[in-house]
Amino acid sequence: MSLTLLKTTDADAAAPVQARSARQPVDMTLRVNGREHALALDVRTSLLDALREHIGLTGSKKGCDHGQCGACTVMVDNRRVLSCLTLAAMAEGHEVTTIEGLAAADGSLHPMQEAFIDHDAFQCGYCTPGQIMSAVACVKEGHAGDPAQIREYMSGNLCRCAAYPNIVDAIVDAKSKMEGA
Ligand code: FES
Ligand code: FES
Repeated sequence: MSLTLLKTTDADAAAPVQARSARQPVDMTLRVNGREHALALDVRTSLLDALREHIGLTGSKKGCDHGQCGACTVMVDNRRVLSCLTLAAMAEGHEVTTIEGLAAADGSLHPMQEAFIDHDAFQCGYCTPGQIMSAVACVKEGHAGDPAQIREYMSGNLCRCAAYPNIVDAIVDAKSKMEGA
């Protein structure tokens, strides 16, 4: 960069500096499940809070709110992220997919949703949206080769009801359907 670009003019020096409150809402547009949402949010708003409190998509759950349970897992550009640790502003310009966006337009469930039902892979269900989003990504990433690998790559999603064996069975089943086997 040339030095002339860095020079401060007299006019710049005279301009009053506008202190901007960190709490002042910032306009942003989030694309979630194929729909755009125009929002004005505190810049510190997490993606999870934006989804739940401002867009009304309450499928993603708040278990711990600090990255330890996986209940808030969503996909951003087809990669799983913990929405409680992701700022909403960081998702602008990207495609966010939540559990509400997983079923087909005609309402038919995703193979992973079907498999969780077929294998009784939940009890209270609180962790289930995060488990399913993580499981879909786990298969797409190629990290569902066998039950041991599934357990390792699903280890960020905790289940207080300990439905783990059935969750692994559901992922094995859904993987073959997702891959058309
Ligand atoms: S709520 Fe995000 S990891 Fe627990
Ligand atoms: S089904 Fe209850 S926490 Fe997982």
